[in-house]
Amino acid sequence: MITIRPARPADLPALIALERQTSAAAHWSRTQYEALFDSSAPRRVTLAAESPADQVLCGFVVALATNDEWEIENIVVALSHQRCGVGHYMVAALIAEARLYGAQLIRLEVRQSNVAAQRLYQKCGFQIAGERKNYYSFPVENAVLFSLRLA
Ligand SMILES: CC(C)(COP(=O)(O)OP(=O)(O)OC[C@H]1O[C@@H](n2cnc3c(N)ncnc32)[C@H](O)[C@@H]1OP(=O)(O)O)[C@@H](O)C(=O)NCCC(=O)NCCS
Repeated sequence: MITIRPARPADLPALIALERQTSAAAHWSRTQYEALFDSSAPRRVTLAAESPADQVLCGFVVALATNDEWEIENIVVALSHQRCGVGHYMVAALIAEARLYGAQLIRLEVRQSNVAAQRLYQKCGFQIAGERKNYYSFPVENAVLFSLRLA
């Protein structure tokens, strides 16, 4: 049993620890994580997945939510909890939140080699919307663009 809830400033160490354990995640500085809870920074929605029994975070998803088009910028599920539906619950909760705010579209980009993430997004209804050649570095790789129209 997993609870999906908005992340709070007290979650920062756990969010950063989860990201640092996950090589395929987008890597951000502590300052970027702190900005998630800064009301003067561009608005981002951060949802955390928590096991209610021990209140340990096992995943999070972050979306930039500044206008009608939201962008999923990062998603991580702890290795110990992968393939149990946590990613799916988080993306479904994010989609519901975006609908509530009247967003028209959610988009994201993902490494071509990241089959797990691509399948997750497809399972959640996202469709391939294009690609960006050599978008990523270290290593250089194409990005696959996904989008989900909400309207
Ligand atoms: C991508 C990620 C978030 C998926 O989270 P998860 O909780 O394991 O995903 P779920 O259990 O909800 O799986 C949902 C669907 O995604 C797909 N999927 C998930 N992991 C997969 C894997 N290792 N291989 C193939 N498909 C996979 C499947 O279609 C799965 O549905 P199914 O179990 O019915 O087959 C997780 O693997 C992760 O944290 N990866 C590292 C970070 C990352 O790559 N982030 C994305 C950057 S854009």
